[in-house]
Amino acid sequence: MERHRIFITRQIPEEGIEMLRRVADVEVNPVDAPMDRAELLARIADCHGVVGLLTDRIDAEFFDAAPVLKGYANYAVGFDNIDVAEATRRGLPVSNTPGVLTNATAECAWALLFAAARRVVESDGVMRSGQWTGWGPLQFIGGDVSGKTLGIVGAGRIGTAMALMGRGFNMKVLYTSSSGRRNAVLESELNARLVDFDTLLAESDFISIHTPLTPATRHLFDAASFSRMKPTAYIVNTARGPVIKEDDLVAALKAGTIAGAGLDVYENEPSMAPGLAELDNVVVLPHVGSATRSSRTDMATLAARNLIAMLEGRRPETCLNPEIYD
Ligand code: DGY
Repeated sequence: MERHRIFITRQIPEEGIEMLRRVADVEVNPVDAPMDRAELLARIADCHGVVGLLTDRIDAEFFDAAPVLKGYANYAVGFDNIDVAEATRRGLPVSNTPGVLTNATAECAWALLFAAARRVVESDGVMRSGQWTGWGPLQFIGGDVSGKTLGIVGAGRIGTAMALMGRGFNMKVLYTSSSGRRNAVLESELNARLVDFDTLLAESDFISIHTPLTPATRHLFDAASFSRMKPTAYIVNTARGPVIKEDDLVAALKAGTIAGAGLDVYENEPSMAPGLAELDNVVVLPHVGSATRSSRTDMATLAARNLIAMLEGRRPETCLNPEIYD
């Protein structure tokens, strides 16, 4: 029987590629950068399976360009880059990588929260530039964390993990839920309270965003939302950039409408909104939430297992459209 052909749109950890090589002929984009669209569409013309990234748009045009495709595996938990309805309409399975990056991303949210609240990057800069003149009572005063209120927007896997990790800080936890479903773990473990968005904005000292990007969450945080937050509050985003209207965030940070922000994701990656990088009250990371050795390796092996299942006509472990197997 002819071996399947697989294309991987960018280098991922070798463990996943090795698994795929055992069952198929595999090619990996040799350039460590997002692929040019026309090149990608040409490259997948004879492929049975593709592993792609959050930077690849997986839509009708993509599927049209791959007439023998049997499935697509996303190397990410977020799947706003995939037109799942279109894949389902065509009977094509698509998958993501939930679970394996939960702790890594939740830890990154804490890193940002503390870095923003305790002005870590700003202080580090003063040390490195030789400007520190010695200890001073009014230097680099930041926000308190212990005992404050943490608002989780999107209490799914990562939002729940983030809140649970904060147990030692004795915070009051609020959360929102787009489905209105209550989070039994947060409520029983942390006495967390399900609240509406306005209450979360008004009462939180720290807001951490963990909601997926959907039409309903795009620009959920804009000038109006920032104006309803406490002027001493901080916002952290490790989910998807467009949940925040970035120009409005820059304005809010400049005006002191809120105290600070910690960002791992941006509205137009890899760019940042004009003015953001010049502000001292924001900490900016280059979308590294899942960038730990074990998470990135586990993402690769999960994506590989998913794609192998699709090629063999089996339902993948973390399928985004399992109904096609009914
Ligand atoms: C994801 O998985 O969605 C992250 O943004 C990258 O790991």
